[in-house]
Amino acid sequence: DSPWFSRRKGILSIDDVPLDRIAAAVGTPFYAYSVTALRHHYRALTEAVAPHRVEVCFAVKANSNINVLAEFAALGAGMDIVSGGEMARALAAGTPAGRIIFSGVGKSDAEIRSALRAGLGQINVESPAELDAVAAAARALGLRAPVALRVNPDVDALTHAKITTARKDSKFGIAINEIPALYAAAAARPELHVVGLAVHIGSQILDLTPFRLAWSAMAALIRDLRAAGQQVDRLDLGGGLGIAGAGGPGPDLADYARIIGQTVGDMGLALTIEPGRWLCAQAGVLVAGVHYLKRGDGADFAILDAAMNDLMRPALYDAHHPVTTVHEPRPAPAMPLVRLVGPVCESSDDFGTYPDLGALRAGDLLAFRDAGAYGAAMSSTYNSRDLIPEVLVEGDRFRVIRRRVQIRTALRLETPGAWQVTGAV
Ligand code: LLP
Repeated sequence: DSPWFSRRKGILSIDDVPLDRIAAAVGTPFYAYSVTALRHHYRALTEAVAPHRVEVCFAVKANSNINVLAEFAALGAGMDIVSGGEMARALAAGTPAGRIIFSGVGKSDAEIRSALRAGLGQINVESPAELDAVAAAARALGLRAPVALRVNPDVDALTHAKITTARKDSKFGIAINEIPALYAAAAARPELHVVGLAVHIGSQILDLTPFRLAWSAMAALIRDLRAAGQQVDRLDLGGGLGIAGAGGPGPDLADYARIIGQTVGDMGLALTIEPGRWLCAQAGVLVAGVHYLKRGDGADFAILDAAMNDLMRPALYDAHHPVTTVHEPRPAPAMPLVRLVGPVCESSDDFGTYPDLGALRAGDLLAFRDAGAYGAAMSSTYNSRDLIPEVLVEGDRFRVIRRRVQIRTALRLETPGAWQVTGAV
């Protein structure tokens, strides 16, 4: 049904590799990503926004495997990072430091210093206190810090409450009415090079109207700043472009690009976007095995070997990932309702109810689609489970890009250190 996921001789395949072959090699559950799909998405988005000279910085948090990052870096992507760990990954993947943007509300002193030493292209500052911290670090290092102020434009992204970031009660960004005074104060500090502004309103955005509202507000703000004599060279438009799903079709790239052009296109700004999900979600699947079938009330349970620790999104945001059987669906007398659940001891370890999987049997393989973003990156070892393997596929070849992290590795970190005696208090 797409160039990278299709049935070949009845078996769901990623590029030209049947998923049951990967399962036999690495065991289930596992994540698999199509290089073809990653490249296709990167090229489609960069081409759509090219008329407005927009730089694309991949949001590393969506999929932080350095082999995935290296694919994007090789295509010319910059990176949007939110921690020292993500900086290490982006650099290890070969991203030039000058093409890395450091976002996030809570950068530590150590992170700010290492960002400045590495020569990152831009630090997006989210509060006056953080601006002071960046200035102090730059002064101590004898460097000039390239900063942008992240604006909270008070716009509702019309997405899930847990992934909206720009309403005025949000922890993100600086209230738009505080920007003019802070911008002028920052521009006057010799240890800062204030390059412009940033905004990011939320994630999985399907209705593009909030982008138009937010970016129009940014355009007005920039006109005011310029009228007051400030220099504003760059505008970072954030990420958030959603993908098709249960909520309907995905947004149209041409519309997205047109809104960029209409709102901020003709202002002589160096523009950046920070897409995460759009670039990698549809390139990935989580493949799980069916452990047991169990009669339930209303729907029968299929108990899988994958759980909420492997794919958090259903438990955390009620996200519904389309599921396809790796084999041809078997005809069933009446289409049974199946509730897909994992082995973790939590009621929220529930991927939802699926009407169209046919008759399932123990040992079947199921593919959760759209799992290339915020899947492996958000996984944990809760219930002392493994971190599962990640596999990259290109044409008829595949390779493991993260090995399974097993309990024996975790246990090595839990050997107790020496007692540190504080004396009785
Ligand atoms: N830029 C900034 C500053 C961000 O905070 C984010 C995402 C992005 C870019 C990329 O957004 P995207 O294009 O991927 O929507 N874990 C949630 C999504 C959280 C997104 C957090 N910030 C999920 O699984 O849906």
